[in-house]
Amino acid sequence: MGVFKDKGVVYKPVDEVDLGPDSDEFYLRANVKAPRMAGLLVKVFSWLLESPIFGGILLFFLKRNNLIHKLVSFADIPEQPLFVPSHPYQGTEEKEVKCVETDMSPPQKVVQAVDCLQSPDYLPKSPQISFYRWTILDYARAYTSGETTPTMIADRLINYVRESSSKKLQMSFFINFYEEDILKQATESTLRYERGEPISVLDGVPIAIKDEIDCMPYPTTGGTKWMQKVRQCKKDACCVNRLRSCGAIIVGKTNMHELGAGISGINPHYGPARNPYNKSKITGGSSSGSAAVVAAGLCPVALGVDGGVLPINFTIGMVGILAATVEDALIAYAAIAGDLSSDQSGLTANQPKIGLPLLKSANYASSEIKMARYGKWFDDCTDDIRVCCSNTVAKLSEKYGWKTVEVTIPEIEVMRLSHYLTIGSECSNSVANYLDKLDKAEVGWDVRVGLSVFGSFHSHEYLNAQKIRNRQLQFHQKIFSVADVIVTPTVGVTAYTIEDDALQTGELDYINGAALVRYQIAGNFLGLPAVTVPVGYDKSGLPIGLQFIGKPWSESLLIYIASALQAVCISGYKKPEVFYDMLAKE
Ligand SMILES: *[C@@H]1O[C@H](CO)[C@@H](O)[C@H](O)[C@H]1NC(C)=O
Ligand SMILES: *[C@@H]1O[C@H](CO)[C@@H](O)[C@H](O)[C@H]1NC(C)=O
Repeated sequence: MGVFKDKGVVYKPVDEVDLGPDSDEFYLRANVKAPRMAGLLVKVFSWLLESPIFGGILLFFLKRNNLIHKLVSFADIPEQPLFVPSHPYQGTEEKEVKCVETDMSPPQKVVQAVDCLQSPDYLPKSPQISFYRWTILDYARAYTSGETTPTMIADRLINYVRESSSKKLQMSFFINFYEEDILKQATESTLRYERGEPISVLDGVPIAIKDEIDCMPYPTTGGTKWMQKVRQCKKDACCVNRLRSCGAIIVGKTNMHELGAGISGINPHYGPARNPYNKSKITGGSSSGSAAVVAAGLCPVALGVDGGVLPINFTIGMVGILAATVEDALIAYAAIAGDLSSDQSGLTANQPKIGLPLLKSANYASSEIKMARYGKWFDDCTDDIRVCCSNTVAKLSEKYGWKTVEVTIPEIEVMRLSHYLTIGSECSNSVANYLDKLDKAEVGWDVRVGLSVFGSFHSHEYLNAQKIRNRQLQFHQKIFSVADVIVTPTVGVTAYTIEDDALQTGELDYINGAALVRYQIAGNFLGLPAVTVPVGYDKSGLPIGLQFIGKPWSESLLIYIASALQAVCISGYKKPEVFYDMLAKE
């Protein structure tokens, strides 16, 4: 790292930092000095922070105690700031990849993706698989054979969503769910199948959208009670439009952490999105509802967003796919990938070709994947997660001969704080004009605390955070010169319990929060692609994931790796406590 001076750290230039396994770089554990708060305590804390003079003093001590001052605000950083991590495309030399042109239509891209999958019966439905999740191709087959229709599936979905919202379950999957709009789309899709003219395998397949992505005819609430009043949703976001053009049925706007300003998914306005594996647990977030509907079997795919609400996505927000199987992630990826129109080009450089992995002919053992692992960071999680993830990495080595390369990725905690500064500053700036116009009482208490903290960040802190961003991108580039991907657990803790006192006020739990985002920052802050695959369960039966972070533009390799990993883990997958069998025969 560098030398601790009185006020801030003086960082060594990147080139002088040793990234090898025996580096003397210090692994700083997140040492969050903020107790969990909910109920009245959050309210009092929020009032204090909002009070002009006392609030300022309190914020100063919060930032100081949490090392933001020392590690970022007053640090001396030799690098220039990097504001937008755009990555020039350098061509792919990957094997087993089909490259398609970006200007192909979404249904044509979907045809290409399906062609990359194995046979029409592509998942080995061998007796070892105790729990099977229906895939997009299962829906397409059921519709084509006349076994069921999109209208029948829409009816079923509507009943299941009503059931999941009942007093008994209160899953709070959706913020808005328009039955009439869903039935209308389903009728049109059913007619296409009757005419023998489905648009693509996605025709009639239910897909849910996180409620921060514009999607007609719904308002975009961003999980708030106010955004829809001050900002109108006028047309589909590009990703929604592409899915729709493939015939997918858009089935509502999923619940999320208010404003994406937290990661528990406990939303005081719309209820906490509950975890299908145990409904007394959080789902994590902020794309909580999207994850939950997929886990509960209601849709094979949902869209989420990483890094805060879309209208405030200057340099951080990124749409992502939550899918029940790797094959469905590939199909959804093919449908939405491609150039954005010029007004949306902030985060991506030109992408000349989209790579789709040829899973049907994949020979995972021949690919010699090198996985970079930073042991101290990898192990900074609960025992159950550490054991499960380490065993899985060992299985990949055994089964496919993939190699683990031990590395050091320096300043992980500094990156987390810099990311927090960045996302907070951007959020604060972009909601500033709205906040003037609205009644504070409409904002959840935990978000009010967040907004006070975000509003306290200064320009020199933001700039220093962007210097750290530059450092980190250089560190990651160096790691990628010795390995194909970085491997980590997905989160540091499994889903924790939703406490009653959090239901009305939301909660502040920065300790669990830091553990939930521990491995998530590089993807979001540096614009690197990443994928996570469920690999096991903790002692209470809650899912554990393993994550791979890739080089820029390596989506295809990541899907390939995910597929290899799914093949290793699928026989152990368990059915959640709340699960809806959408294609079950009557
Ligand atoms: C769900 O979690 C609660 C709270 O931790 C626990 O009491 C309960 O046994 C769990 N349910 C199942 C089905 O594991
Ligand atoms: C950023 O937000 C704008 C406005 O909501 C949206 O159109 C655009 O797609 C977003 N960009 C990304 C990369 O998510």
